[in-house]
Amino acid sequence: MKIVLVAGTRPNFMKIAALLRSIPKGMDCSLVHTGQHYDKNMSEVFFDELSIKKPDYNLYAGGGSHGTIIGKIMTRFEKVLAKESPDLVVVVGDVDSTLACALSAKHMQIEVAHVEAGLRSFDDKMPEEVNRRLTDAISDYLFCTEQAAVSNLIREGHDPDLISLVGDTMIDTLLYQNSKLNGATFDHLAAKEDYLFMTLHRPSNVDNVETLQPIVEAINIIARDKDIPVFWPVHPRTSKMLDQDFVIWNQNIILLPPLSYIDSLILWRSSKCVLTDSGSLQNETSALGVPCVTIRDNTERPQSVKEGTNVLAGVTKEGILQGYEYALEKKGRRIFGHDGKASERIWELICREAC
Ligand code: UD1
Repeated sequence: MKIVLVAGTRPNFMKIAALLRSIPKGMDCSLVHTGQHYDKNMSEVFFDELSIKKPDYNLYAGGGSHGTIIGKIMTRFEKVLAKESPDLVVVVGDVDSTLACALSAKHMQIEVAHVEAGLRSFDDKMPEEVNRRLTDAISDYLFCTEQAAVSNLIREGHDPDLISLVGDTMIDTLLYQNSKLNGATFDHLAAKEDYLFMTLHRPSNVDNVETLQPIVEAINIIARDKDIPVFWPVHPRTSKMLDQDFVIWNQNIILLPPLSYIDSLILWRSSKCVLTDSGSLQNETSALGVPCVTIRDNTERPQSVKEGTNVLAGVTKEGILQGYEYALEKKGRRIFGHDGKASERIWELICREAC
């Protein structure tokens, strides 16, 4: 069986690392990097650290509006599909690369498997929400990370025979890499010091001053009142805004360039609390048992709130300050599908159908 596996952005790389590590013998798999993320520290370092094979194709399609990125990827991916003629295209997550490649494959009558299907924030202002719904609509395999995703797909009228609850491939990678780390620590960190970890990149949070200002203010206040360092690796999208007139007035806030996966993991796992608007980190912190404050009004991963360590705090200064106090008290429990075997289950199901 011939497969084309697609990745394009930073959060995709953790998922494909797990899928590639557990790929069944004899499966012919070509790897396509769309190039949506292209800086060395947003892409190449993840390939090195997670031992992901060199992509068979790089589409170099990064930069520009959603339409530009999707258009570039589709035009270039069609050529790859024409050459490879795969039986199945596997896409992961909810980024522009996910939708673009699923759509090209479907136009060429090639089956599509969507890993992380069914997640819904019910917020169409998020480009990812649109990407998720459209990708699911044309996928032949719908692999879900949690029960809420299965329920969403059933409610939307998807064929139950296409849907499987398999768990989270990103947690496969997290558990695998964490088990190899032992006592490693981060360079900037004095041993045993309490600290917070923060990430922010959602367009709705960082693309305009009105929303970013109260978030930055809340972090300033936490860093001052608790006298605690905050490590904040800054995403390129956010960095463009912070270069303007944002006041980071508390010297406990330490701005860093985007970090590699291993440095991030070392920081997450020992941090007192993570503050983030990332989708993935809500699950990653829950798997590690680390408190998480999600700086968003909604989440597509309700299981992390119901059973994990995640607190949905909203985007106001007051909400974030309250969410922080609440998160520190919250206890999570072990979550279904966070067992390191999601990728194995995916390949098993694909082989049962198609091999
Ligand atoms: C994308 C995904 C988002 C995901 C995030 C993870 C979509 C719609 N969004 O958002 O779901 O959570 O990746 O990071 O696909 N840039 C660089 N260097 C890079 C990558 C991006 O400078 O290596 C710049 C781009 O030129 C652009 C901005 O950062 O100006 C945003 O990049 P883009 O890929 O459009 O979206 P993200 O915000 O990264």
